[in-house]
Amino acid sequence: MRLDLTDRLISGNKWFKLSGYLQQADAAGCTGVMSLGGAHSNHLHALASAGARFNFPTVGLLRGTECQTPTVADLKALGMQLHWLGYGGYRKRHEADFWVPWQQQYAHFQPVPEGGGGLLGARGCAPIIGLIREQLAAIGWADYDALWLGAGTGTTLAGLVMAETGAHPVYGAMAVPASHGVQAQVTQLLGQAGLADSGYQLLDACRGGFAKVDSELVSFMQACEQQMNIPLEPLYTAKTLFALQQHVRAGLVAQGSRLIFIHTGGLQGRAAALAAFQ
Ligand SMILES: Cc1ncc(COP(=O)(O)O)c(C=O)c1O
Repeated sequence: MRLDLTDRLISGNKWFKLSGYLQQADAAGCTGVMSLGGAHSNHLHALASAGARFNFPTVGLLRGTECQTPTVADLKALGMQLHWLGYGGYRKRHEADFWVPWQQQYAHFQPVPEGGGGLLGARGCAPIIGLIREQLAAIGWADYDALWLGAGTGTTLAGLVMAETGAHPVYGAMAVPASHGVQAQVTQLLGQAGLADSGYQLLDACRGGFAKVDSELVSFMQACEQQMNIPLEPLYTAKTLFALQQHVRAGLVAQGSRLIFIHTGGLQGRAAALAAFQ
């Protein structure tokens, strides 16, 4: 499922995770939108792009100290107002009063959790299931057996599990170590939606840590790109495909299974992720 083709800039799962927040901001008469992320954040990139496209101001609260990355250059060019929180300041993002000073400084701005997370973000991903169903006939499938996608916060996966209501299992290849709490976040989102904590499986796919890239992964990614003629990026889509290959090789996928792999985008960060490796 090519979510990377959703839009050239508001790409991948980001549009879906943002959509509920943008609707809420509109309904509440907000004048802008603010959110947080790292210096390579696909989420901030999509938000800044949405602001530039639909003409609303955006604020990005960044992890760490000021640095230049291609993503940061794009955020500035797209008109996003940036603030660097340091590492300690960024760690406070889950505290109850985190947004208070920012809401004072940017009155009437809609805050969006890191990575477009939260129940609104998850619910925004539910329409992806409809898009998949619409495309099945084109590949001659009456149905499918499972969904596969990368997980960072687990928000997209939770939204798909909500929409599936148990019809098909959803496999989430974690691009972050388990210590980042993806499992707990998915459980919490499903609980908030009043659903059972089931219908999905999380797999470790981070290969030593978030954003860690190794030569085996890069060779695998490049071979896949050549074979499929589809661009991937190393941190989510390539790691997820690699985890899927390992799952198949371990004999955990029944022969003849119809799997839908969701390309969650992130191509804006591809070059920087590869450059960091070289
Ligand atoms: C390209 C890409 N794929 C997958 C994900 C994982 O999405 P989620 O945080 O909803 O688990 C992200 C992070 O948002 C991402 O940038």
